[in-house]
Amino acid sequence: MFNRRNFLKVSSLSSMALLVKKNLIPGDFEAISIKTRPVVISTWDAGLAANKEAWKILINGGRALDAVEKGVMVTEGSRNCCVGLGANPDRDGYVTLDASIMDENFNCGSVAALERIKHPISVARRVMEKTPHVMLVGEGAQLFAVAEGFKLEEQKLSPEAQKEYNNWIKNSDYKSPVINIENKQDHGPFAPAILENGEWNHDTIGMVAMDANGNLSGSCTTSGAGFKMRGRVGDSPVIGAGLYVDNAVGACTATGQGEDVIRICGSYAVVEFMRQGSLPEDACRKTIHRLVKILGEKAKTIQVAFLAVNKKGDVGSFSLQPGFNYALKSEGVEKLVKANSYF
Ligand code: GLY
Repeated sequence: MFNRRNFLKVSSLSSMALLVKKNLIPGDFEAISIKTRPVVISTWDAGLAANKEAWKILINGGRALDAVEKGVMVTEGSRNCCVGLGANPDRDGYVTLDASIMDENFNCGSVAALERIKHPISVARRVMEKTPHVMLVGEGAQLFAVAEGFKLEEQKLSPEAQKEYNNWIKNSDYKSPVINIENKQDHGPFAPAILENGEWNHDTIGMVAMDANGNLSGSCTTSGAGFKMRGRVGDSPVIGAGLYVDNAVGACTATGQGEDVIRICGSYAVVEFMRQGSLPEDACRKTIHRLVKILGEKAKTIQVAFLAVNKKGDVGSFSLQPGFNYALKSEGVEKLVKANSYF
């Protein structure tokens, strides 16, 4: 049995105890190196609660895959603007959910435009484990979920989402989300539906973790852009864009403007930079720089952030706009970390 005492022994032998290093680098941020395992990181401050759940599995010697699934289920089950069935709908009034999951053996599964299912991340895992496919979408994904025993929830917006939708539909002003910074105003445990500047908020949760055996896994789940076109799919369920895991190298997840993460295969790019020797933060930074080069002026109008862990347990992040932070949990450490940004 892998009990806590054994776990700590393994952990300290493998990593010579916890070492948290803060390197002050030009610019207003900390680069954090966590030389221990397990470790879990996730996007935005909602990640604090999600990490706590993931940690229960990791601290007991459980698999990173289980941790990243159970972790983001907390966010899916909470009331917030942008993850799970309580989130803002598409422009036709339907909440459609995207999610992906990937383990240490390149197994991966995802769902897109899934409706009326509370935990899309678990359906994504079921796609990975029970079908010969990687991705199921729309009605097919829902039929599969129901066949697998997932409850079909009522077709109904949460009171908050209904209110937002009623406001939105007055003008039905469809446009891409502009800068989507979740932690811009004090909003307690939930991301606000609307930012101070009137833009719709956008709060994907992506989580990557390394377990006590040194294996990596990741998950990503979202309702996507609020009031998106019906059928719009973002980066979160696209393996290589919103999530990528290579157990020999590292894992990465993304948040922000999905279209622009997809066009550069963002999470895959970060993992490839790590493969070439970059530390996680530097790999995220190089990928953001690549995006800026491609987007030019448009880069000023959107938010994209990457969050990564490498095979040694170093973690790092970098965003386009300031304001992105991520939640970090390791033995003796539980905190929000402010990411450095391009602008
Ligand atoms: N990053 C989530 C989305 O664009 O849907």
